[in-house]
Amino acid sequence: MNKTVRAHTNIALIKYWGKKDPKLRLPLMSSLSMTLDAFYTDTSIEKTNGENQFYLNNKKQDETNSKRVFSYLDLLKRKFDCHDNLIIKSTNHVPTSAGLASSSSAFAALAAAFCKYYNISVDKTELSRLARMGSGSACRSIFGGFAIWQKGESDESSYAYALVEEPKMDLHLLAIELNTKQKKISSTRGMKDAQSSPFFEPWIKRNDLEMKQMIAAIKKNDFTALGKLAELNANEMHAINLTAQPEFTYFEPNTLRAIKLIEQLRNEGIECYYTIDAGPNIKVLCQLRNSKEIKERFERIFNSVNIVDASFGPGITYLD
Ligand code: PMV
Repeated sequence: MNKTVRAHTNIALIKYWGKKDPKLRLPLMSSLSMTLDAFYTDTSIEKTNGENQFYLNNKKQDETNSKRVFSYLDLLKRKFDCHDNLIIKSTNHVPTSAGLASSSSAFAALAAAFCKYYNISVDKTELSRLARMGSGSACRSIFGGFAIWQKGESDESSYAYALVEEPKMDLHLLAIELNTKQKKISSTRGMKDAQSSPFFEPWIKRNDLEMKQMIAAIKKNDFTALGKLAELNANEMHAINLTAQPEFTYFEPNTLRAIKLIEQLRNEGIECYYTIDAGPNIKVLCQLRNSKEIKERFERIFNSVNIVDASFGPGITYLD
């Protein structure tokens, strides 16, 4: 029986940036995301008599690259009392260069593949909690469309659920690949360092209101309200990085050039907004009718830039 599981990546419109409990990966805030159709990870598991092995895109990974996957596997094995050595095979259909985090799809697919392999029956809530232990944002990739990760207060109460699994909203995303190199500051490190910002407390305090406003925008199919708030929320996250002690930023000169271009497009009446994660790349939120024009404008300013189109993707899928 084929036990391959597919999980799509997600992009947060209201971001998770701060941990309450790093070990359990409990967040200090709730977050809300859009699951993306264009980017996904396929993962399958086999038993082996040899040592644990991790293959990514058909290439066996060395110890350093396998470390996070193996320590997550150990956690799952302990939890479910499983003792086999395993071969994990993952294929990332996230263009390595797209600048989109693959950890959300990677750990969602791994959690689901593990449960599938051992016939462990978990509902989506439990699966989301398990994925969260691999990478926080992975808990949202269990669901398609718009997903909410409610922060909760404990392992039991911190999980994601679907707000709308198959949204009708005209929402399109362009991932603009400005720099394809691996980020220098991991999200774990960035979240920790950001807590020294004088604006960290206000950032946490605004979360309730921003979640409410984003949910309202989605329910009303209000693209403008969604775009404005997603952009504000991303800028708040990057503002606390810039005001941390010592300060840091994921922005690069081209990130600012891209922001300026988006402002310029808006001034011309082409409605679009941006969001930025823990890296220099920009994701543009727009409506389908404007996506071609926006793409062309980016291509004109940034020579040979790669741009990937995406819209809503589904939740966890079993490829049997
Ligand atoms: O799940 P992590 O540890 O890779 O953190 C994700 C952090 C952001 O992508 C910046 C925000 C988010 O909510 O996805």
